[in-house]
Amino acid sequence: LKLAVLVSGNGSNLQAIIDAIEAGSINARITCVVSNNPDAFALKRAIKHGVTTVIHQNQNFSNRREYDSALVQILKDHEVELVILAGFMRLLSEIMVNAFPHAIVNIHPALLPAFPGLHAQKQALDYGVRYSGCTVHLVDCGTDTGPIILQAVVPIEHNDTEETLSARIQREEHRCFPEAIRLFADGKIQVNGRHVHISP
Ligand code: GRF
Repeated sequence: LKLAVLVSGNGSNLQAIIDAIEAGSINARITCVVSNNPDAFALKRAIKHGVTTVIHQNQNFSNRREYDSALVQILKDHEVELVILAGFMRLLSEIMVNAFPHAIVNIHPALLPAFPGLHAQKQALDYGVRYSGCTVHLVDCGTDTGPIILQAVVPIEHNDTEETLSARIQREEHRCFPEAIRLFADGKIQVNGRHVHISP
């Protein structure tokens, strides 16, 4: 399966995916890493592993649709089959969503539909929930609203800060995201409306 990984920041999820591919546990290849941020550490990780990088900056485009049209072209040029949002801090328009039907996945640091959007870990702490976690889901035109593929739960401790909770959630992200991509690569994901069926 030909993957693109879209990033904006640290890229620890990108690293987990690269590591899983290099270990032979995912039958896929990253054809390109695309960043909207030229300073993203994720780009260094990609280069270190010989993965092609593309910097696709927001400010060169007057609106989201134009940005996304150019992004679709970049991804089609790389023959991408599955688009992975790994800390990509931009919402996608219907231009991207329609160009890759049921083929864009995101990871969110909460148990959706709780706490969508930014600062999900802080939202969970402020609300006072006892458990949070991460969600791998398909991307639609809403914010963190697409069909859910996998989730993992973590407990919230009484002395947690945003940092300690984020670190606990990230350990689960680094396990769940490669697992979800492996399921795609093995053809085990079927989507029926909101419901994602995973073959055994
Ligand atoms: C992760 O916490 C993910 O849930 C969110 O953005 C963060 C990206 O982290 N969507 P990294 O860049 O993969 O380290």
